[in-house]
Amino acid sequence: MKIESPKDLVPKFFDKTAQTYDIVVNLTTFGKDKYWKKEILKKIPPSETILDLACGTGILTLQIAEQFPNAQIIGIDVTESYLNIAKKKLKSHHKISFLKQDAEKLDLTQKFDCIVSSYIPKYCNSIDLITSCINHLKPHGKIILHDFTCPENKIVLALWNIYFVILNIIGYFVPNWRNVFVNLPKLIRTTRWLDDYEENIKKQGLQTERQSLTWNCSTILTGIKKV
Ligand SMILES: C[S@@+](CC[C@H](N)C(=O)[O-])C[C@H]1O[C@@H](n2cnc3c(N)ncnc32)[C@H](O)[C@@H]1O
Repeated sequence: MKIESPKDLVPKFFDKTAQTYDIVVNLTTFGKDKYWKKEILKKIPPSETILDLACGTGILTLQIAEQFPNAQIIGIDVTESYLNIAKKKLKSHHKISFLKQDAEKLDLTQKFDCIVSSYIPKYCNSIDLITSCINHLKPHGKIILHDFTCPENKIVLALWNIYFVILNIIGYFVPNWRNVFVNLPKLIRTTRWLDDYEENIKKQGLQTERQSLTWNCSTILTGIKKV
């Protein structure tokens, strides 16, 4: 039997969840998603060109556009239904475009000052994603990766485990989200995204920095090109 890879989870998680994503991500993170995105935004340097990898419904893309109104921004994602919501949400922003592309095999005709992403690393192969980013990063460019991590404090971890049991039960009543609520905790417990990406970013000659958020429930990893 074929073992399911994190990438196989992407259509299972995202094919039927676009319409309710914004509400669910806010509720299930107790509003922390908003705080985490603010911390991501603080790390984006003044930039002319910004790539939002796995932009989803454009929550972060919109905030980037508001912070950098003159920047040219591209959002890419593999899930059409998510991209359609992002396009509607940002239709008045003329310097933004959205494309359906796989972040591991980016094929864009330009390079970026900053490549930013929230919640994609755990689904991807770190070597492929970092290679793809490096190929599209300008000299002095910055990569910002954010995703869930497992809490280290024993009490927080116990609460985190209980919370996911509750989400698992809620999943029975919200069929479109069931796959996410059941499989996401397993994925977060087993992923080694933070160490893997940090190692591969360093191998590419970039300097890295980690910022742990909310008792390590998520982490931002940044890489800056040394020239
Ligand atoms: C949880 S959503 C996050 C969306 C957005 N970044 C945010 O923070 O709200 C994850 C997104 O990653 C996208 N995704 C997963 N793997 C991808 C890949 N290899 N290339 C592009 N998008 C991908 C999914 O389609 C989904 O829209």
